[in-house]
Amino acid sequence: MMGGGAGTARERINLGLARLRGFQDLIGPDARAVSFVEERARNVAERYSINEIRIPLLERLELYQRSSGETSDVVEKQMYAFADRDEAQTTLALRPEGTPGVVRAYIDAGLDRSDPEQRFYYYGPMFRRERPQKGRFRQFNQFGVEIFGRADAACDAELMIMVDEFRRELGLEVEFEINSLGDATCRPAFRQALLEWGRAHLDQLCEDCHQRLERNPLRLLDCKNDTKLAETAPRSSDYLCDPCHQHFGTVEELLSKANVPYVVNPRLVRGLDYYTRTTFEAVSKAVGAQSAVVAGGRYDGLVEVLGGAAVAGTGFAIGVERIALAIEADRFKLDGAPDASIIAMGERATVTAMDLARTLRAAGLRIEMLSPERGLKALLRRADKLGAHFALIIGENELAQGVVQVRDLKNSAQQSVPQGDIASHLCSALNR
Ligand code: HAM
Repeated sequence: MMGGGAGTARERINLGLARLRGFQDLIGPDARAVSFVEERARNVAERYSINEIRIPLLERLELYQRSSGETSDVVEKQMYAFADRDEAQTTLALRPEGTPGVVRAYIDAGLDRSDPEQRFYYYGPMFRRERPQKGRFRQFNQFGVEIFGRADAACDAELMIMVDEFRRELGLEVEFEINSLGDATCRPAFRQALLEWGRAHLDQLCEDCHQRLERNPLRLLDCKNDTKLAETAPRSSDYLCDPCHQHFGTVEELLSKANVPYVVNPRLVRGLDYYTRTTFEAVSKAVGAQSAVVAGGRYDGLVEVLGGAAVAGTGFAIGVERIALAIEADRFKLDGAPDASIIAMGERATVTAMDLARTLRAAGLRIEMLSPERGLKALLRRADKLGAHFALIIGENELAQGVVQVRDLKNSAQQSVPQGDIASHLCSALNR
């Protein structure tokens, strides 16, 4: 089909070439919005002295089964998994989240034993075969932070303070919802209480909850079908052992002192199985139903479950596209506009124009060379459409005089400027 023309959208669908459902092409301002969120998150993470980690997109499926949890929706229903071509036909999976891979990498590097206190951040695509809707995609980016070797409540609070700083920089309103799920000491009693409550309300539970009841009763609290019924369920806060109670109290106190707005949501259980003690979500009203823009919590047993030492862990992940939606991609529309578009009339002028473009780019300006094959009028229209501030015009006359016509497209003015002065002329006009 190459060279045969793109065809209509319908033709492309019939040819089986259409983009997959839930996967996005991010073009221009949409891509810039996502890059902007990533860049801001990086800046904040660097200020907290956190190191970058890059981990593979593919791992063994088993890694996610053991960590995210076999009964979690993510592992049970949403994995992109397939058999490899090796003899054993190892089952591989595209990562649905970053935490398990980071924990595996941490253990593989021997850090759990040699130097357990570590702080990492990561950025990149995750894959979940969810039902697509606004703010929910099958490929999306997370910016995540994972901290190892810190069991104290101050670390949980610091992570939320960090998220709060990040969202303030973006001018985004969020509310933090926090909860404690207890630990290995007190969780079993809470789980048992939920199981008994579920069995007592069997006839009122939805179909999904019937499944959840025996396999993972904590998820009963997550039921979206009957939130009224879930209100009557046992609350984890009533079952916390003393150390868990104290830990949560300290988190609350530190958040209040730092002026982080939060509410305690006793139904916040999170969709992944590894959480212990503190869990949290940052919720924005600007994204619609998919309102959790950041989520995370403590996972103290996970390093050990994956074969490492008994090291505490805690972290969060930012849903980058959700944040980009919440801060409105519109404001990025003009960000990519050139400072100047260069219009060269004729071959000789093109050589000079390319030289000029190099000089201006070296001065830090954003310069676009327009095609020398079109007429002046069409090129000026094009420069205007791109949002360029200036058009720089070079023809035979300008070459002969060693000047450039500088047309200010924003203020409809034009003047002739010596070639050697263009960089300083533009920089001062643009306040650079
Ligand atoms: P999660 O709640 O599954 O947690 O995802 C974190 C964030 O990723 C969500 O709050 C949301 O903003 C975004 N997200 C999740 N699924 C989608 C989707 N289908 N489309 C768009 N955005 C999505 C985790 O992944 C944990 N690993 C977080 C964590 C790190 N906990 C401790 N450390």
